[in-house]
Amino acid sequence: MSTTPSSPDKPTLSTITASIHRGAIKNIVVLVGAGLSTSSGLPDFRSPDTGLYAKLSALALPYPEAPFHISYFNHTPEPFYAIARARHPMNAKPAVGHAFLALLERRGMLGYIFSQNVDGLERDAGVSEEKVLNVHGSWKDQHCAILSGTVPICLKDGCGGNVKPDIVMFGESLPGEFAGKEEEMLSQADLLLVVGTSLKVAPLSEMPRKLPTHVPRVLVNREIVGDFGSRENDVLVLGDCDDGLREFARKLGLEEELEIVWKDAVKRKEAELERDNWDDGNAPTLEECVASAAEKMNMRMGVSEGHRRMLQGHLADKMAGIMAKRAQ
Ligand code: OAD
Repeated sequence: MSTTPSSPDKPTLSTITASIHRGAIKNIVVLVGAGLSTSSGLPDFRSPDTGLYAKLSALALPYPEAPFHISYFNHTPEPFYAIARARHPMNAKPAVGHAFLALLERRGMLGYIFSQNVDGLERDAGVSEEKVLNVHGSWKDQHCAILSGTVPICLKDGCGGNVKPDIVMFGESLPGEFAGKEEEMLSQADLLLVVGTSLKVAPLSEMPRKLPTHVPRVLVNREIVGDFGSRENDVLVLGDCDDGLREFARKLGLEEELEIVWKDAVKRKEAELERDNWDDGNAPTLEECVASAAEKMNMRMGVSEGHRRMLQGHLADKMAGIMAKRAQ
């Protein structure tokens, strides 16, 4: 983990925590992405090799985000449900980073969390519902539809369409409250903390730029993203986000409390899984789910391929008939 080098004017994690201690920073607004949950066992999207998009080549997608695009999902839902089966956060437990967010709330410093994640792990860590907006929706309460690993079909009034969970796909609108909350929270923020996101997907990717320039921004991520580093009061904490947030807690003098909040959150989740008699020990891997979806899609394409050949043959016969007539 590396942090920005100190210079007399440039803030560092130490000067930020000193401002928190003397009450100059009271209200921290947080933006998180998939990197926050990788240590809970959920792959992110865009990391080379380990990210989800790198693992979908067998599906021969027209572009990596296709399974999460509403128009693609409507005609080819298999990739989405294959990924959903493997990436569903059913038995994932909160990581230290999620616990750090709960710690901020316990200590009265948390303004609000904008989460791009659909795993609900901030809430599992103890963050209250009213303090977090899952901007891309949430998996919570979608278990039975997803765990079959097949495409659930809507049977209501003989509909027969594909069931779609309440997560926001590309091409769909964000929750109605997002724009107002963003404006309100950014105008009140004393600090913007950005964790584990590539800042590649709008409109969340624009949030750090919208923050008034006098308000400091802290990035905790493996790499520099967006326009971080372009402002005098940016602090870059590069490396693993659990390490970076542990360091943040240590500088706040809250390292031990963070470990307690984390362990309690993990125990709570374990008890919940046990209570619900939840055992997904035999869950298929992402690779297995992708291979099975690829096979199903090939079979489907095989049928249409056969259909195409039949039509080609039919057309060829017709053409031959026309040519023969002309020749008479
Ligand atoms: P990405 O996969 O695009 O970015 C994750 C970022 O976290 C990258 O910059 C990684 O380097 C970093 N990272 C990964 N693991 C980390 C770790 N343990 N510690 C520190 N950094 C780590 O994920 P998002 O930015 O969340 O949307 O993606 C945004 C949206 O794109 C998602 O919500 C999803 C996706 O397509 C939809 O599906 C609508």
